[in-house]
Amino acid sequence: MGLAAYGDRHPKKSEDMAMQSEGNGKGLIQLEGVKKVFFTEELETHALSDIHMHVKKGEYLAIAGPSGCGKTTLLSIMGLLDTPTSGNYLLDGEPVADLTASQRARIRNQHIGFIFQAFNLIGDLTVYENVELPLTYRGMPGSERKRRVEEALEKVGMAHRIKHYPSQLSGGQQQRVAVARAIAGEPLMLLADEPTGNLDSKNGGQVMDLLRDLHQEGATICMVTHDPRYAHFAERTINLFDGQVVSEENGEKLRELEEIGF
Ligand SMILES: Nc1ncnc2c1ncn2[C@@H]1O[C@H](COP(=O)(O)OP(=O)(O)O)[C@@H](O)[C@H]1O
Ligand SMILES: [Mg+2]
Repeated sequence: MGLAAYGDRHPKKSEDMAMQSEGNGKGLIQLEGVKKVFFTEELETHALSDIHMHVKKGEYLAIAGPSGCGKTTLLSIMGLLDTPTSGNYLLDGEPVADLTASQRARIRNQHIGFIFQAFNLIGDLTVYENVELPLTYRGMPGSERKRRVEEALEKVGMAHRIKHYPSQLSGGQQQRVAVARAIAGEPLMLLADEPTGNLDSKNGGQVMDLLRDLHQEGATICMVTHDPRYAHFAERTINLFDGQVVSEENGEKLRELEEIGF
């Protein structure tokens, strides 16, 4: 049983089932020959061409490459925020092509935690309310929401700021709240698009440490970064160029090379 059950009226039950499913053995995310073309008035932009990639449960993948190479487009497709022009996407073993808009929205809400470069917190909601909002959309009872929000804020070290508004926090603190919002729903995967892009190196480092801790606790993470300092936090890095995967690196190897002075 996978994500196909998402049209039903028992989100809690199907959520548990999906969390327990092991997909089809090929991984949580499977992209097969994915292409994305944007058509604007006179221009055709080939943002992604023939992408094949798999991400296993519990993996930490970095997606690197220069500006404009298709990283955000790839993450948007993985996060069901956008659809491929052609090719197949299987999420937890289920093709997503035939899902309705509301099924896609439900999967995003229940199974995918997003972290953006610009934090994307809601300015007139408190820290607590920002983290709670996706759980409210889910129809989760108040007591369970409270437990999850408090746990998530504790985990990111922001439990002492629940009544603050985003504008009263530093960038690093805002991003930690955004991470809490992403993990509070216990998603199948976290998708982060240049999560350190708006942060100085100290705060960026803290957010990266946090993602590494989450990964060590079992989270599946796909992180876009153009900062080579951070790509090696991941187990595996896929390098994109002009919409194509041009190489792949093993993070373990990179760390070993660094340790012996390369
Ligand atoms: N909505 C869109 N409409 C038209 N072109 C787009 C759109 N989104 C992205 N692109 C183009 O697709 C290419 C890849 O963009 P993007 O995925 O944002 O790259 P990256 O995140 O690596 O900087 C770029 O050439 C960009 O201009
Ligand atoms: Mg981008």
